[in-house]
Amino acid sequence: MPPRVREKTIKHKHQTESLPAGTLGHRDALEKLNQLEAQSKLGGGAARIKKQHEKGKLSARERIDLLLDEGSFEEIDAFVTHNFPGEKILGDGVITGYGKVNGRPVCVFSQDFTVFGGSLGERFGQKICKVMDMAMKNGCPIIGFNDSGGARIQEGVVSLGAYADIFLRNTLASGVIPQISAILGPCAGGAVYSPAITDFIFMVEGTSHMFVTGPAVVETVTHEKVSFEDLGGAEAHAATSGVAHFRSPSEPECIEAIKRLLSYLPQNNLESTPFLADDDPEREDERLDTIIPDNPAKPYNMLDVIETVADGHALQQVHEDYAQNIITGFARLGGHAVGIVAQQPMVLAGCLDIHSSMKAARFVRFCDAFNIPLITFVDVPGFLPGVAQEHGGIIKHGAKLLYAYCEATVPKLSVITRKAYGGAYDVMSSKHIRGDVNLAWPTAEIAVMGAEGAVNILYAKELANGEGSEAKRAELLAEYREKFCNPYEAAARGYIDAVIRPRQTRKRLIKALELVRNKRDTNPPRKHGNIPL
Ligand code: HXC
Repeated sequence: MPPRVREKTIKHKHQTESLPAGTLGHRDALEKLNQLEAQSKLGGGAARIKKQHEKGKLSARERIDLLLDEGSFEEIDAFVTHNFPGEKILGDGVITGYGKVNGRPVCVFSQDFTVFGGSLGERFGQKICKVMDMAMKNGCPIIGFNDSGGARIQEGVVSLGAYADIFLRNTLASGVIPQISAILGPCAGGAVYSPAITDFIFMVEGTSHMFVTGPAVVETVTHEKVSFEDLGGAEAHAATSGVAHFRSPSEPECIEAIKRLLSYLPQNNLESTPFLADDDPEREDERLDTIIPDNPAKPYNMLDVIETVADGHALQQVHEDYAQNIITGFARLGGHAVGIVAQQPMVLAGCLDIHSSMKAARFVRFCDAFNIPLITFVDVPGFLPGVAQEHGGIIKHGAKLLYAYCEATVPKLSVITRKAYGGAYDVMSSKHIRGDVNLAWPTAEIAVMGAEGAVNILYAKELANGEGSEAKRAELLAEYREKFCNPYEAAARGYIDAVIRPRQTRKRLIKALELVRNKRDTNPPRKHGNIPL
């Protein structure tokens, strides 16, 4: 059984005869505090903490200790207890408070699975709401460690109300303070919707599980047999559903990744990002001059481009395992944090499809909300063709990314490295949708479509009639490529601000960033837009 609150077990050894009955002398008062604190810190007790460790999980307090700067944690509401008959455990199963990560304040809650399975009741919910309100009022990120059996069965509908109180706060805090969720155990039923509204979800392989209905219910309803891991594990959500933005092999690595992410983020939507200069802004790299293969059908790794350009060659990818035809992530340029969006020609030739559009749209909107300049590297042959894409709604999902870039007023820089074809050219941070500085490499091809497709459409009849058609096709392709597959048509109209030497990409972007740092732009006043959801 977990430890209970029993006042009579506390011995007041320093109490003197002269004090009024029930009054403690200051030494006994301090001792009582010590004992209550120790009791609260034990949560569900040593045996349950041991069980937690045996499952490969850390305790709720160990997680906080790993996240926060040493000695910086200030706990609140350690003596809150639940509001129904039966044993009461100090803290009621969730540890809340504030502290610092790399010297910057954050608020935190950590659900304690050793107390009623981390289940959420009235007081537990109130504690989370209080620390969320604190984060909002004081403009600092909130980090939640989730490890819970869901609604506390003993508290019935009250716990559903408590969830709703949290959902409302998640929604109102969206775009105001960064909200980060780590799933470090079960997170099931309606409980998943609090993390789902937050900005980033972290999961750990083997121990995190998220689902609306678990394997047993799935089997009853659909007769599908599926394990916890396959249904709602870290891999399922990081690579297949896209619910999780980050996955890690262990909890310490997960918490390290959270700290790294925080290093790129401002404290709130009114602050700018932290500055950390550790690389030469003038650094050039000649390898970029030859990174684009001569054969336009050949891929190259866009990560090489990004990592060559970024400070310290460092990029923290968001959604690394999901929709890998587009890359999203955080880096620094000249010491300032930037959000990177880039096609990955190695996957689906860098086409925009349903998943990549949704992935990038959400990322663009996060960066816009938090004043993180966007750098877009473009090599896009267009939208992915196919019945599955059309029937899956590529029109509405592609529109999300277009809408996100159009509405973004944060500084927007772009570099077209190779293809920028068709509507995808417009979408990817083009000048026409308020791109601030648009650069292109000499290898850029800005055109309605690629040469093959264009020649097939424009010269269908000529090419259909037999002899000599291959030679004719080659001639037409060469003609089209020369005329349209270059950056100079766009540069002649000012759609591209400059055609640059690839090796100088880093310094050109840093100079552009210096210009746009104080950019001011707004959208028309309105309640909110209607992004095609
Ligand atoms: C109260 C709970 C609880 C809950 C677990 N416990 N879930 N107590 N309310 N929801 C308690 C157990 O009684 C047990 O207490 C301790 O937590 C640990 O649970 P175990 O079952 O021993 O742990 P484990 O084997 O690891 O299994 C974990 C689990 C399982 C998979 C989460 O406990 C489980 O299925 N729980 C119920 C989940 C559930 O159906 N929740 C409601 C979902 S609906 P002792 O004293 O023995 O240590 C929901 C709606 C939210 O959440 C709606 C929001 C809008």
